[in-house]
Amino acid sequence: MKKWKMSIIAALLLLTGCQTSDQQAPVLTLSKSRVQVALNEKIDYSTYILKAVDDVDGDLTDQVTHSEIDTTSVGKKVIHYYVEDQSGNQSQQDLTVDVVEYVGDLINPITAQADTVENPEDVTVLVNKLHEIPEGWKPDDLEKVIDCSQQLRKEANEAYTRFYQAAKAQGIDIYTISAYREPETQQLYWDNSVKVFGEEHAIQYNAYPRRSEHELGLSVDISYTTQGDRLSEKVADSPLGRFIVSDGYKYGFILRYPQDKVRVTGYSYEPWHIRYVGVELATKLHNENITLEEYYEG
Ligand code: DAL
Ligand code: ZN
Repeated sequence: MKKWKMSIIAALLLLTGCQTSDQQAPVLTLSKSRVQVALNEKIDYSTYILKAVDDVDGDLTDQVTHSEIDTTSVGKKVIHYYVEDQSGNQSQQDLTVDVVEYVGDLINPITAQADTVENPEDVTVLVNKLHEIPEGWKPDDLEKVIDCSQQLRKEANEAYTRFYQAAKAQGIDIYTISAYREPETQQLYWDNSVKVFGEEHAIQYNAYPRRSEHELGLSVDISYTTQGDRLSEKVADSPLGRFIVSDGYKYGFILRYPQDKVRVTGYSYEPWHIRYVGVELATKLHNENITLEEYYEG
């Protein structure tokens, strides 16, 4: 090949090489993966953009664009966020938005559109006002708890027995009040709560059918007494209430509805409701002071 031809090819290769040297798309990071917004709320789309950084172009955070969603109807919507570097490499991240109706600070489950969970048998599964148990699903490894005829799933029950015995060993009064519930029982609880105390109360303290962790066989309501107002905020000030907070995680249990996370969990403070998630996850949630919602959705 003639020398001049080789030079042209070399120059072309160099040119092409230069043009494609930035083949890496920018890294786009959102602050959350799923959020709830109120019906008719105006969304500040930029609050969910944490950063966009490109290996060549640097910080592209202020160049992030996004699609829009309609918040005039309830339901699950998705915002797409995009960013492109100067070489045309694009990145996209999606934010799932549940548009919900609030009653006070709490999501109204009656109008909320819930996703059906795919892994109800997983002890770390998230079930709440927006995540429901598949219709007809029931745990198949229930067994009786240590002090009465209530039931929990085997793994949760073994952990609960250790937790219970540790409390007793410290002289702490502990009684199982309510553990596994059939979906039909949860429906009765909901209906009864609405009838007796009103819808607002039910939204605060009762899960809608198929959205209760009690139906998973992983949650248990406990008290320091079997008398009177067994499940009240008095539990928080009892030795048992303090033991739940200080030691529950060591046995795989979390206080599921803390006082300072009402808006996050969707329920009023329940110092008596503990949920088994396994020691590893419980320890992480305890150390980081986060709920299951924050663990999964940021
Ligand atoms: N009290 C909790 C939220 C339940 O009903 O599962
Ligand atoms: Zn409960």
